[in-house]
Amino acid sequence: MKCHILTLFPDMVLEGLRTSILGRAEEKGLLSLHGVNIRDFAENKHNRVDDAPYGGGAGLVMQPGPVYSAWRSVAETCERQPRVIYLTPQGRVFNQEIAGELAEEEELIFLCGHYEGIDERVLELIVTDYLSIGDYVLTGGELAAMVVIDSVARLVPGVLHNDASAEIETFSDSLLEYPQYTRPEEFMGKKVPEVLLSGHHGNVDKWRREQSVLRTARSRPDLLKKAALTEAEQELAEKELRKTLDFHGEM
Ligand code: ADE
Repeated sequence: MKCHILTLFPDMVLEGLRTSILGRAEEKGLLSLHGVNIRDFAENKHNRVDDAPYGGGAGLVMQPGPVYSAWRSVAETCERQPRVIYLTPQGRVFNQEIAGELAEEEELIFLCGHYEGIDERVLELIVTDYLSIGDYVLTGGELAAMVVIDSVARLVPGVLHNDASAEIETFSDSLLEYPQYTRPEEFMGKKVPEVLLSGHHGNVDKWRREQSVLRTARSRPDLLKKAALTEAEQELAEKELRKTLDFHGEM
């Protein structure tokens, strides 16, 4: 998969993403990250790419010309036009399902805005997807692009050591992940749950599944609606939900 990132801060995005697993994926040729500095396409001798908003108001708006030229410099090299993802709090809220959908693409372009945003006309011309990473405002789209690229790239076959681990983890079936333990068997007086030491795979799987249901009921009951639960699991979840409600009721 190839990701082009149009940004005023390519080093921030590339250095952040290449630090760990994605850096190794790039060395193995499974992923290619390409930063494009929008400032390189400034149309004046001061290298300015922003200006005051028409109609007045605080802050500065990124001008359409440099953004369009930065996009064209990438688009010209592509046979099929890649989706262009603009990171903005006004977008659809990103989730695991969208990550899976984007991981099918061979090439993607990410557009990161700064200041008070980007001139609407160039967005209308080039953007295919508007994505938000949550209901809060960042100073720019770079961190959001990194979040999206990280979660998409790890779904590309071969990027994780063990492809199965992407499948059984949190959100893949609308449940949160069960708790994990490693050596030592006892830490600060706290023991690893007995069942995990038993070597009985059936019991381990059953315990993990129950823990996932309990955790989801406690922290993200909204996800339970989408989860495929057995009747017994549903009862377990409802019992846990009632406990949580009782607890909050007492406060
Ligand atoms: N840019 C600024 N805030 C953002 C957010 N929450 N999601 C995506 N892009 C953003």
